[in-house]
Amino acid sequence: NGIHRIFSGIQPTGIPHLGNYLGAIESWVSLQEKCSSVLFSIVDLHSITVPQDPAVLHQSILDITAVLLACGINPEKSILFQQSQVPEHSELGWIFGCLVRMSWLQNLPQWKRKNASLKQEGTVGLFTYPVLQAADILLYKSTHVPVGEDQVTHMELARDLAQRFNKKYGEFFPVPTSLLTTMKRVKSLRDPSAKMSKSDPDKLATVRVTDSPEEIMMKFRKAVTDFTSEVTYDPSTRLGVSNMVDIHAAVTGLTIEEVICQSVGLDTAQYKVVVAEAVIQKFAPIKNEIERLKMDEGYLRKVLQVGTEKAKELAKPVCQEVKKLLI
Ligand code: ADP
Ligand code: NA
Repeated sequence: NGIHRIFSGIQPTGIPHLGNYLGAIESWVSLQEKCSSVLFSIVDLHSITVPQDPAVLHQSILDITAVLLACGINPEKSILFQQSQVPEHSELGWIFGCLVRMSWLQNLPQWKRKNASLKQEGTVGLFTYPVLQAADILLYKSTHVPVGEDQVTHMELARDLAQRFNKKYGEFFPVPTSLLTTMKRVKSLRDPSAKMSKSDPDKLATVRVTDSPEEIMMKFRKAVTDFTSEVTYDPSTRLGVSNMVDIHAAVTGLTIEEVICQSVGLDTAQYKVVVAEAVIQKFAPIKNEIERLKMDEGYLRKVLQVGTEKAKELAKPVCQEVKKLLI
């Protein structure tokens, strides 16, 4: 299938939510069966591009590890590791920073949006974030990267860097390809025009994998829909209800048509309860496993440590060779 190595990352900025689960983690779990070399990184260096409380960040790294394992990431099949513990990420990031023009980064819509949303001026790290992301991918000579549609422009930088590097120094990096997830962006339950996000200040907008059944039910009950009570699917005009249908289909494995068919006769208020129940059912075993894993911090640390050693083994020679080519 041409997939030789897969790399993907998740930020340790809080407990993963339904969007992270359906849009990323669930597909990662199936990818580890399809490819023999898979790396998943907890990208803490990306998180510190904006202010973080060190104690919270530290705990978040362990929490994400527990969540990923509970969701089915198997440390025998995937290399699960903490980015900052493999110094070659920063090293290659610096080198790539010397190969990328300012204007390339200045024109990225994500930088413009993020920088504008901050109370203070953005940091250099936030500005060069996509360069580090390119280094994360190319450090392992990854061939495929599962990404959400919001990350596609950043993938372009990794591809561009690989191509330019190869032209200048000889064939070295595979040009990585995006593996676009088929799952649509899961939307905020409070503002279905925005994506569900870890950093949403409205606590009701985001369903986390560790939420209690009562919390999940309450969040779905308070979800914003519209003034039509029938359950229909039309993402262009009925964002809120369509988001429910997408979620419902994804957690049950049913098609959109099957979901709609089952919902005939329900009004949206009743339908929210049905979707909440499906999500509760999906998350119940994961939530139990997270709670069990979180009691064994030693095990979580061990998993990360073993993953980090494996990642280092792959990263070191690549970084060495890059330096030899440049210096
Ligand atoms: P967040 O944006 O919530 O902080 P991350 O940036 O850590 O999450 O993203 C981790 C993974 O989850 C990425 O692959 C990203 O594309 C995916 N993801 C994030 N939010 C959503 C969403 N609302 N729907 C689907 N996938 C998402
Ligand atoms: Na993101």
